[in-house]
Amino acid sequence: MAELVNKVAIVTGGSGGIGSAICERLAEEGAKVVVHYGGHADSANDVVSKIKDSGGEAIAIQANLSHSEEVIKLFDQSQQQFGTIDIVVNNAGTGVGGSVAETDEADFDKVFGLNAKGTFLCMKEAARRLNNNGRIVNISSGLVVRPMVGFSLYCGSKAAIEMMGKVLSMEVGDRSITVNTVSPGPTETEMFANSGDDPQAAAALSPFKRLGQPKDIADVVAFVVSDQCRWITGHTFQAGGGYV
Ligand SMILES: NC(=O)c1ccc[n+]([C@@H]2O[C@H](COP(=O)([O-])OP(=O)(O)OC[C@H]3O[C@@H](n4cnc5c(N)ncnc54)[C@H](OP(=O)(O)O)[C@@H]3O)[C@@H](O)[C@H]2O)c1
Repeated sequence: MAELVNKVAIVTGGSGGIGSAICERLAEEGAKVVVHYGGHADSANDVVSKIKDSGGEAIAIQANLSHSEEVIKLFDQSQQQFGTIDIVVNNAGTGVGGSVAETDEADFDKVFGLNAKGTFLCMKEAARRLNNNGRIVNISSGLVVRPMVGFSLYCGSKAAIEMMGKVLSMEVGDRSITVNTVSPGPTETEMFANSGDDPQAAAALSPFKRLGQPKDIADVVAFVVSDQCRWITGHTFQAGGGYV
């Protein structure tokens, strides 16, 4: 029996590489899925079509997650469409490369504005609205444990959400809501392609000697939001193929 029948999931960045795989995986388990997107309506609509073609339910909703009023609108519209919210996967993310000396205030605002503030605003709405036994999953990065030169803003913003998620897990546990982090290692998506990282060198960091695929991450998220994972909260799952 599918795990998530009658559950409603919001996946931020559902138009992207890892996010679209998460949307499709949760829909496979029976969840009704809100495919959030930033700028790529076409990609989000493709994900919705795939889910609907397989007999599932999904809608696409645009929001700039750095603005609280847009995050509230995302959650309001999701509730209006599906009546309730059970699962929130905070997956939308961005990075700007460069040393601390090279990067500037605008870079900080861009990366922290989405990765840290956007995730915080979504956690806030999730904490206020989620049903008992709900699930909040934040997508971080293995770079928090294995930092790299030139990624200070990205690593710092991801470290922030890991800690905020841990604190939130203590605040919502009395409603049996879990808050966990899933940290991918190098995963074959547009973000990875644009990162300037050498794919072969990155693949060599895993004992499996390959890059992660979005489905590798989506399967971990499907476990974390399932009832099987009800006793684990405030935890970081390293989903990097042994990368860390
Ligand atoms: N790929 C990797 O190697 C890797 C490794 C570790 C962690 N991660 C993390 O995994 C998550 C997904 O990454 P990915 O590789 O799948 O990247 P991706 O394909 O570039 O997708 C990024 C997603 O974030 C959304 N987004 C970007 N800026 C936004 C904004 N200002 N407002 C709202 N949405 C915005 C994008 O929406 P639009 O395209 O619609 O604008 C897109 O759906 C990120 O949090 C990333 O940090 C990735």
